[in-house]
Amino acid sequence: MAITAQFCQVSKGFNDGDRFHAVLDRVDLTLHQGQTVALTGPSGSGKSTLLNLMAGFELADQGEILLGGQSTRHWQDARWSAFRRLQLGVVFQQFNLLTPLNVRDNIAFPLQLAGLDWDPWCQHLSDKLGLNELLERSVEQLSGGQQQRVAVARALAHRPLLLLADEPTGNLDQQSGLNVMSLLCELAAEAGSTVLMVTHSSECAAFMHSHWQLKQGQLLELASRDAVEG
Ligand SMILES: Nc1ncnc2c1ncn2[C@@H]1O[C@H](COP(=O)(O)OP(=O)(O)OP(=O)(O)O)[C@@H](O)[C@H]1O
Ligand SMILES: [Mg+2]
Repeated sequence: MAITAQFCQVSKGFNDGDRFHAVLDRVDLTLHQGQTVALTGPSGSGKSTLLNLMAGFELADQGEILLGGQSTRHWQDARWSAFRRLQLGVVFQQFNLLTPLNVRDNIAFPLQLAGLDWDPWCQHLSDKLGLNELLERSVEQLSGGQQQRVAVARALAHRPLLLLADEPTGNLDQQSGLNVMSLLCELAAEAGSTVLMVTHSSECAAFMHSHWQLKQGQLLELASRDAVEG
């Protein structure tokens, strides 16, 4: 199976005053195409840092990151931007929707960056996520749960190779969060996207193919089942 993302002995730390604080310590990981992975770990263990490295928002101190089979070692800003625009979808905890825009334009935004417009796949996302009644509404007027569903649709609109989600259910009650996360996995499977999702919910982790945990700079695989059978 094709590999979407790979970390080879990746280390990352931050300067904390005059001390260096190691966050990730020679982490190896492989994400296969279509795989869904839940990432858990204590607060401050480096989950967001790991996602930021995979999106190129931060650069590794050591080691190598491969995306879509290519080494990112020599990627400049323009190459990272192209990757994010064409192959990456992100759902942030705070959703980061574009507030002057309505729901439809938020969902179509990644397509517009690629010179495309609303298409049948966007309509399918809107149908499945129950957004049809809301398309002309400004995103500022939506509830947290509605905003989250728009954020999921926007992240999948361009059928990204890789979907990163950082505690996207953090602000929702448990049942709403689980419903949207199961839809996210179903739609990502239709799009052929690989999913890496930070979550504190073990219920959420249970319906993903794999469950990884970060602890003291190390990544442990707690559970795994076959992505093809799953
Ligand atoms: N840009 C930065 N500059 C300095 N320190 C940072 C930076 N980003 C993260 N850190 C530190 O790295 C460590 C890991 O942070 P990170 O945000 O990855 O944790 P996390 O596992 O996502 O935590 P949470 O569950 O609370 O979101 C923390 O100690 C944090 O203070
Ligand atoms: Mg975090």
